[in-house]
Amino acid sequence: MIKPLLKWAGGKRQLIPHLMSLIPESFGTYFEPFFGGGALYFELRRRGLLKRAVLSDTNNDLSNFYNVVMKKPLELCDALKSLSYGNVKEHYYQARELFNNTRIAEEPVMKSALLLYLNRHCFNGLFRVNSEGRFNVPFGNYNNPRIPDSDQILSVSEAFKDAVFKNEDFESAVSDAVEGDLVYFDPPYMPVSRTSRFTDYTSNGFRGEDQIRLHKVAKELWDRGVYVIISNSSTDFLKEQYKDFNCREIMANRAINSMAEGRGTVPELNITNFNDNSILPLNSK
Ligand SMILES: C[S@@+](CC[C@H](N)C(=O)[O-])C[C@H]1O[C@@H](n2cnc3c(N)ncnc32)[C@H](O)[C@@H]1O
Repeated sequence: MIKPLLKWAGGKRQLIPHLMSLIPESFGTYFEPFFGGGALYFELRRRGLLKRAVLSDTNNDLSNFYNVVMKKPLELCDALKSLSYGNVKEHYYQARELFNNTRIAEEPVMKSALLLYLNRHCFNGLFRVNSEGRFNVPFGNYNNPRIPDSDQILSVSEAFKDAVFKNEDFESAVSDAVEGDLVYFDPPYMPVSRTSRFTDYTSNGFRGEDQIRLHKVAKELWDRGVYVIISNSSTDFLKEQYKDFNCREIMANRAINSMAEGRGTVPELNITNFNDNSILPLNSK
């Protein structure tokens, strides 16, 4: 029953077998600071491979949602049951309006119930807000969208046992990682085109300078003896930047992309600082 509750752009479900093959045999605390839908976290939990976990995401609605799932799962189930919206376009836009007018600080549980409804009924499970911070994804018009039932919500709540969920930037979210811990970074991907002006480019608010900061943080973690796994797009810039790490190119399906030419199979990078459970000597290559 432990399945991700949210569909999330850039979700790693299809890459799970590959990512699982990279997981070290044993590790301390697990850190996942770009959590999104958390596909890898739930797989590790399902297999009983986690002890303590420190999770984070800068998306306030997402972070509030997981904290409600962790701490108030029964209230969330009740709030979901109280929603009278079906798979109808007008209902969807009413729910979206209510979501945008509901404050996390005042009604964290209702905000989470609405997020779950919108996530399952909106176009491609996208989360996108306008310049005023209002959620603006259109109705998805799917045949039979399924909202997770109470059993699924309760089992995910149980799967957050011994985990904390922060609403922090990735750098501070991993600041406590020590030797033998494992960090999985799945940042917003670097755009494949526009490499020349890449420092100006913002993808979900994640800029070129953040990609550079991520590399610096990964090196610091390496220096502290932490296992690091990074997913990102396959670009010449990243291959050069991570040349002293292990970089493997794998093929992935890109489903969430409004541009027709963006669909299909594209290469991605899997970057690690270890081989067969042993952390590489720093600057080994
Ligand atoms: C590619 S998605 C992660 C997908 C996830 N692995 C999954 O399986 O669904 C990237 C996530 O990073 C979050 N994010 C963006 N900038 C961030 C930052 N500076 N620090 C932490 N999280 C950030 C976004 O809100 C988004 O949820």
